[in-house]
Parts: sequence; structure tokens; C-alpha cells
Amino acid sequence: MRAQTEESTTEESTTPADAAGIETVTVVGAGTMGSQIAAVAALAGFRTHLVDIAQEQLDAAAEQLRRRFDRDVEKGRRSRAQVSAAWERLGTTTDRDAAAAASDIVIEAAVEDLTIKRRIFSELDAVCDPGTILATNSSNIVSSRVADAVEHPERVCNLHFFNPALVMECVELVPHPQTSPETMERAAAFTRALGKTLVTLRKEIPGFVANRLLNAIRQEALSLLDQGVADFEDIDAAARTALRHPMGPFELMDLVGVDVVHMIRQAEYEQTGDPESLPHPMITDLYEAGRYGRKSGRGWYSYP
Ligand SMILES: NC(=O)c1ccc[n+]([C@@H]2O[C@H](COP(=O)([O-])OP(=O)(O)OC[C@H]3O[C@@H](n4cnc5c(N)ncnc54)[C@H](O)[C@@H]3O)[C@@H](O)[C@H]2O)c1
Repeated sequence: MRAQTEESTTEESTTPADAAGIETVTVVGAGTMGSQIAAVAALAGFRTHLVDIAQEQLDAAAEQLRRRFDRDVEKGRRSRAQVSAAWERLGTTTDRDAAAAASDIVIEAAVEDLTIKRRIFSELDAVCDPGTILATNSSNIVSSRVADAVEHPERVCNLHFFNPALVMECVELVPHPQTSPETMERAAAFTRALGKTLVTLRKEIPGFVANRLLNAIRQEALSLLDQGVADFEDIDAAARTALRHPMGPFELMDLVGVDVVHMIRQAEYEQTGDPESLPHPMITDLYEAGRYGRKSGRGWYSYP
């Protein structure tokens, strides 16, 4: 990986041929999601700029990716040549506007804060060519909520990756009412060129498809527990051993973070105004008790 230089934006393209003219990618936000999305793009052959407001965050992301790539090579998941080529294509910078202006698609993966996202989109809109796709990786904020902050809403959509983005195959592509068919086609071609499985939504809805399915299972599990039908350990066991889910809904909440589950439901409620969207009272109880799951040592289960 390199820090971005003048020459780094004028290198020869090594881009996949069938990516609808997309050659250069900028990912805004170098946290959990952005760093791996950038790595996915670089591995797929795209020249990629990873951007953050904090240089320390870029350094930490580069270090984590370097360790991850080394481990992948050791375990035979990727060749040294693949990783070295991806590393060459991947640059980090705090100069978001220069990177975005030189890109064919910008994927925003900054903090889940509507005000910040709206500002980022309006600033990107001002510096990017109108043909540049502006996508948000938000889990819950539908793109119409940022599209009305830009002059060219037709190039805005959600492109939702799953955590960890280097591993998870699914990417959801979600239009808002003004997203153009061309944006959808190009974003779809780009996603396929990443080697991901594309799930296209016809219209936007908070949570999209996969997280809504997950949420439906979670809500039912909470309801069964609340009604005293079974203990949470048994509900988890049923999900694992009868449905072949890799883990039960309560184990998964502990892994994702009870605080994150709580935050997602609150964010959905703010968008829908529907009391059904509010966190389940049992989630609120855990959240208020600081029982966030694995990260705090205790959630549904204890992690001594
Ligand atoms: N974590 C997940 O499991 C997950 C899964 C799917 C989607 N998402 C979505 O992805 C987005 C990022 O989530 P995350 O978990 O990677 O967050 P994170 O907190 O790990 O990273 C966010 C990064 O954004 C940076 N940032 C903040 N303001 C910025 C700005 N104005 N410009 C550029 N960078 C800025 C921060 O410095 C930080 O490095 C969110 O919208 C979230 O909803 C998260």
C-alpha cells in the first residue's frame, strides 16, 4: 500500500473489463467496513483510494490489512502475487476530494450519522463528475436521505456490504426513487466484477433484505423467550441444530453487540416512526445494564 501521490492517480489501469467503465474507486471511511471494502476492490483489480479524516485510522487500517493479507497468503487463500498486486493498487489519503474527483465510483463508509453523511454527499457531489456513482454502505440509512443533499440524485444509491467485507459474499444494491437505470446497471456490473453475489432491491426500505430477515428471526426468538416458551440457550440450539444456522440468534446478538442491535432498532424507529421498530424491552434492559455481549464480557451469555 502507498500513501497517495500525484503519480498514483495516473497509473496504467489494471481494471476488470466488464465493470461498466469503472476503473477507479474511492472508499470514504477507513473503519471496519471501509478498509475491507477497499481491499476487496483492490484485489478485484480496481485502482482504489482509501480515505479517512484521521491519518491514524488510515495507518491502523493499512496495518490490519497487511496482517490479514499475510495470513491469507500463509493459509493459501491467496497468492503472494495477488496480494502484492492489490497492495500496489491501494492507496490511502486524507485528501478525499482529490481522490473522489479521480474516481468512477465513491463508496461512503463513514460513521452511521445522517448529518455527517449528508455533508459528505453534498461535498462529493460538488467535486465529482456527474457520471461518478455515489454510493453509501449504510446499513439503515436509505439513500434518498442523502440524495436530497446533492444536485445529481440520479447517481446515488446504497451499496451495502456485509461484515467482514473480505469474506461475506453478499452485496445489496438499493435504488431510491430517482436513481437512474444507468447507475443501477453500472453499480451492478461493478459489484459482479468484485466477485460478490449481487442482491438487487427494487425499492428502498430500511434494513434492506438480509438484515430484515435476520431481524425477523431475532424478534421471534425474543418473543418466544418473553412468552416463556423456551430458554435462550434452547432457542439457540434449535436454530443451530434444526435450521443449520452457524449460531443462534442470542449468540449472534452477543457477537454483533447488544448495543449495536439496540442502535439499529432505534435508527429504524427514527426512520419509520413505527413503535414495532423500537428495540425489544429485553434488549433495552441488557443495553442499559451495559451487557453488550462478547465485547463487555457479558450479554445473553457470560464470557469470563
Ligand atoms: N460494522 C458493520 O458490521 C457494518 C455492516 C454493514 C454496513 N455498515 C455501515 O458502514 C458504515 C461504516 O461502519 P463501520 O462499522 O465501518 O464504522 P467505523 O466506526 O468502524 O468506521 C467509520 C470511519 O469513518 C471515519 N470518518 C468519520 N467521519 C468521516 C468523514 N467525514 N470523512 C471520512 N471518514 C470519516 C472514522 O474516522 C472511521 O475511521 C456505517 O454507515 C455502517 O452503518 C457497518
